[in-house]
Amino acid sequence: MQSGGDYGNGFHDDHHRDLEWEEKQVSGPGSFGRAKKRSRGGARGGGLSTNVPRVSDEQKKSLESPDSPPPCTDFDVAYFHSYAHVGIHEEMIKDRARTETYREAIMQHQSLIQGKVVVDVGCGTGILSIFCAQAGAKRVYAVDASDIAVQAKEVVKANGLSDKVIVLHGRVEDVEIDEEVDVIISEWMGYMLLYESMLGSVITARDRWLKPGGLILPSHATLYMAPISHPDRYSHSIDFWRNVYGIDMSAMMQLAKQCAFEEPSVESISGENVLTWPEVVKHIDCKTIKIQELDSVTARYKFKSMMRAPMHGFAFWFDVEFSGPASSPAENTSATSVASGTSSTSPSGEGNQKKRTNPSDALVLSTSPEAPPTHWQQTIVYFYDPVDVEQDQLIEGSVTLSQSKENRRFMNIHLEYSSAGRSFVKESVMR
Ligand SMILES: C[S@@+](CC[C@H](N)C(=O)[O-])C[C@H]1O[C@@H](n2cnc3c(N)ncnc32)[C@H](O)[C@@H]1O
Repeated sequence: MQSGGDYGNGFHDDHHRDLEWEEKQVSGPGSFGRAKKRSRGGARGGGLSTNVPRVSDEQKKSLESPDSPPPCTDFDVAYFHSYAHVGIHEEMIKDRARTETYREAIMQHQSLIQGKVVVDVGCGTGILSIFCAQAGAKRVYAVDASDIAVQAKEVVKANGLSDKVIVLHGRVEDVEIDEEVDVIISEWMGYMLLYESMLGSVITARDRWLKPGGLILPSHATLYMAPISHPDRYSHSIDFWRNVYGIDMSAMMQLAKQCAFEEPSVESISGENVLTWPEVVKHIDCKTIKIQELDSVTARYKFKSMMRAPMHGFAFWFDVEFSGPASSPAENTSATSVASGTSSTSPSGEGNQKKRTNPSDALVLSTSPEAPPTHWQQTIVYFYDPVDVEQDQLIEGSVTLSQSKENRRFMNIHLEYSSAGRSFVKESVMR
């Protein structure tokens, strides 16, 4: 896989044909736990944060209206509790690709931040708020519903910034800010971009406080997918059971497949695992996206394999772009663009595959297999059994990502794929 390529194989609806499922691969109801433990914002954990008004799931239904933000459920409380642990913040801050790109983006937009009012949606330890204060912001509202806000306040004080950075311990949906703001900054991206469902809170903050024409960082986000071959992973977890100390344990293989591949797996792959150019699953303009658009996202895709290989699943990754208003003088600063390792950021309207039209005009944080590694790695949806593909063979279908009804922080993944006349469905939940 390469980055920055000029893609020619965007998906066209008229090429899509109805798929008749020969085989159905659907996860069973029993969960055998996760192949890999995720530490970031996993909406798990116990304990209760006291600073968040909570409602039961029954109350939630009666409170919901199309315009009101989602009420805070027990799942949200557990989610915020998971962010009270120092380990998550250490992991994120030590992710230099992430943290340095944010700092660079703030400095690149210094002329739009200097003397201005900023909201940091989900400030965590306060690091981005402090970067904004260092860039000359007049005032920064650092909002976090997790108890990590207590530490953020201490960090701000220790750096002599208490007069500029106001830490608000609560949900952005609930706290009050009595002025419009010029800038919103947030690090909201979950695995596979949309896991965690935090973007909705950024949208709420935008609609509550951002001045018309205000700056929002990051400004755009794009989720990609591509088919992959990963024989080592398959043989390590599955073929291993064929011969264990000379014993035929292949009776274990079905269970091993279920355990290893039922849920999406967060892991690092290399560009060599990727069978073809990626396609765009969703492109988001953070200035205009509506919360309702995130309930469910469907993309159709059509790939042509660039080689003969066993296809083991699909990889997903994302990038985010930090671009200000077109007229921003900040774009003339000396900050450099980060190579995304992917191609694209803005839609061309010609299909799903996009390319960067002018790579030098926006800073990009990429989680592509070819970009510098990040704590997001890539997310892989493995098939239970590989599908052999020939060079130039078409792989087509659709993917739907939707918020779980059980817990909106979880994500349902409905994947349909078909190749050489065989069709499959894989359902999984990212919890
Ligand atoms: C990915 S962390 C980012 C932390 C910090 N900005 C950084 O870059 O290191 C997201 C933070 O947002 C907070 N958060 C998520 N949704 C929120 C909401 N609706 N209101 C307030 N805080 C929220 C979480 O508690 C968590 O601390």
